[in-house]
Amino acid sequence: MCPDGEAAARATAERLVEAARAGGAIALSGGSSPRAAFEIAAQLEPDWSRAAAWWGDERCVPPDDAQSNYRMAREALLDRISRPPEVHRIRGELPPDEAAAEYEAELGDLRLDLALMGLGPDGHTASLFPGSATLDETERRVVAAEPGLEPFVKRVTLTLPPLRASREVVFLVTGSDKADAARRAFGGDPTNDVPGSLVRAESGRTVAILDRAAARDLSA
Ligand code: 6PG
Repeated sequence: MCPDGEAAARATAERLVEAARAGGAIALSGGSSPRAAFEIAAQLEPDWSRAAAWWGDERCVPPDDAQSNYRMAREALLDRISRPPEVHRIRGELPPDEAAAEYEAELGDLRLDLALMGLGPDGHTASLFPGSATLDETERRVVAAEPGLEPFVKRVTLTLPPLRASREVVFLVTGSDKADAARRAFGGDPTNDVPGSLVRAESGRTVAILDRAAARDLSA
């Protein structure tokens, strides 16, 4: 547990940079929480040329749209470093099924080195929403998904198998509005009602970086 959001962002940035320096395949998360971590990571390490950037999910919008996870990462990280990684973005501008099929082909059977995950107040992670059929997907590694929360745009998301196969899963969760979801995701049994409780590195390391506010309802 970190004292505040700044410390949580820095702890996350240090993990991202460690993976980048090791030449890792890194899946970035979207939403608002990782922006500060990406900015710090760019300050800590300007050379990501040995690494590859992937995304855990994307909103089905063009890459310059304000809701684009790619755009957020481009502004907060990729545009701020001198030697960028290999970039594998999900083409949110395509029809969702087409974008998912294309990304699945591009991902192939790659094993991620680090999957950065967020957590929604409803317990969703990536674009895997509570009770959704995407949670039962065992064959496909990337699928189109219906939004369960704002922004209500179609999504493309990695499924559980590639996320669970990642060598390291890192959750970044901050703010009191996430305390209940964090309690259910990290303090309870795995359930399809809380997708964040389902993403754990099967044969690797899972780390949850929370600030004090998000960890409020979790016993130490
Ligand atoms: C997305 C994300 C999603 C995100 C959570 C938390 O595309 O929205 O990948 O899974 O991590 O919704 O979002 P915030 O960090 O904005 O609370």
